[in-house]
Amino acid sequence: MQEKILILDFGSQTTQLIGRRLRELNTYCEIVPYNKVPKSLEGIAGVILSGSPFSVYDEKAFYTDLSKLRGKLPLLGICYGAQSLVHQAGGTVEPCETREYGRAKIETRHQDLLMKNVREKGIVWMSHGDTITKLPKGFEIIASTEDVAAAAFRIKGEQTWGLQFHPEAFHSEEGMAMLENFLDVTGIKGNWSPASFVESTVAELKQQLGDDKVILALSGGVDSSVTAVLLHKAIGKNLTCIFVDHGLLRKNEFEDVLRDYEHLGLNVVGVNARKEFLSELEGVTDPEEKRKIIGKGFIDVFDKEAKKLKDIKWLGQGTIYPDVIESLSITGTVIKSHHNVGGLPDRMKLKLVEPLRLLFKDEVRRVGLEMGMQEHLIKRQPFPGPGLGIRIIGDISQEKIEILQNADHIYMTMMREWGLYDKVWQAGAILLPLKSVGVMGDERTYEYTIALRAVTSSDAMSADWAHLPYDFLAKVSNEIINKVRGVNRVVYDISSKPPSTIEWE
Ligand code: XMP
Repeated sequence: MQEKILILDFGSQTTQLIGRRLRELNTYCEIVPYNKVPKSLEGIAGVILSGSPFSVYDEKAFYTDLSKLRGKLPLLGICYGAQSLVHQAGGTVEPCETREYGRAKIETRHQDLLMKNVREKGIVWMSHGDTITKLPKGFEIIASTEDVAAAAFRIKGEQTWGLQFHPEAFHSEEGMAMLENFLDVTGIKGNWSPASFVESTVAELKQQLGDDKVILALSGGVDSSVTAVLLHKAIGKNLTCIFVDHGLLRKNEFEDVLRDYEHLGLNVVGVNARKEFLSELEGVTDPEEKRKIIGKGFIDVFDKEAKKLKDIKWLGQGTIYPDVIESLSITGTVIKSHHNVGGLPDRMKLKLVEPLRLLFKDEVRRVGLEMGMQEHLIKRQPFPGPGLGIRIIGDISQEKIEILQNADHIYMTMMREWGLYDKVWQAGAILLPLKSVGVMGDERTYEYTIALRAVTSSDAMSADWAHLPYDFLAKVSNEIINKVRGVNRVVYDISSKPPSTIEWE
């Protein structure tokens, strides 16, 4: 078992960021709800208590008995976590007269392990409505801000610390050093590497799955491909992968990717279901309706293929950490229903195996490279499950699919040739349901418009339009208009997300 830091989540918006920060320090961590402390602390090198939207004295406040953790292993309380340590030990936490929010100057007052390499005067990020006004016995102040005396404290005789600010926030200049110091105390700083992840995950999968059979839907994307290779390493031929061609992939993509998969030694069943999808989509213009039809189509094909195989017990999925976070959204607003193979029929009774569910995208890529996967598979830009189905605005027809595939192929090929492919987060062409007048030779034309989209981003949650060179855009536009029949106009999308989204539908 890989040793880890456990982050107890009391509901703060920055809990995930704590996890992200520890991973940046190459340290393995897991986030669990505040009330899910494992009975055995084996394998846990330290615990971090997150912030919370509650006050410690709220009736509904999330409560965990911290005496079960204190003194047993290194413990770091952040914001509400720090206030809980104080509150439970008999100290006083009270509402601030003015809510503390934003940058604060911190002064370290004590030689302490947590403050090693922290500048004596630095900046931290505050965000709380309460403050500690009286520390319990045995608690010692190690840093203060102008307004908050107990900005940071430690408990004598224990490896327990509390910080009333957010060391994980980007604006906490000294925060990373403090987190690093905490990891030093736990002794596992830097224990995460792609190689160690592969080794421990393959061992865990072997144990979890034994001789059971697993089925997995491949999409051609990085996540499902890396999941497949990991599972393959663990259980070999007991893994069957299904790769569905819904007819809305990029030009030649089905054949190219299938070849890559076979090259990796995976047992892949490629299913051509183009006709079925196209006929289901006929006349449908609403984006969410399209997604539903395509999602259901995937499930139908998958179900049919799974029935042909015997004794399948598990469904493999390429869920990664940002998907987990998104589905945990407290507000529950659905902007776009992104997830494709949700809702498999209950009667299939498959258990889920998701070996990447705690990794961020860059970590998934590093794991893939570690296992020897080809760069072009690993560095693939994201591509939506419903594919060109949500890049043909309005109704979909075979003619439109071909027009878009050809235009997109020109665009993406040139992106590679110009060395731009790896510089953007994702790019693609969109076919607009709009015809306009043009002139070609002496002839009047009345044809479709292609919109080109390219964005830079680090997580797809927000994105900026990519500032591609004009020369490049000019060449792409020329090529598309000259070579793709049915198109006489090309435009470039200069909207950022938010308020726009990356895909047009
Ligand atoms: P938006 O358009 O919401 O996209 O800014 C964010 C990211 O999600 C991808 N996307 C999808 N992926 N099924 C998917 O698998 C979908 O229905 C879907 N819609 C958007 C999009 O390409 C971008 O990477």
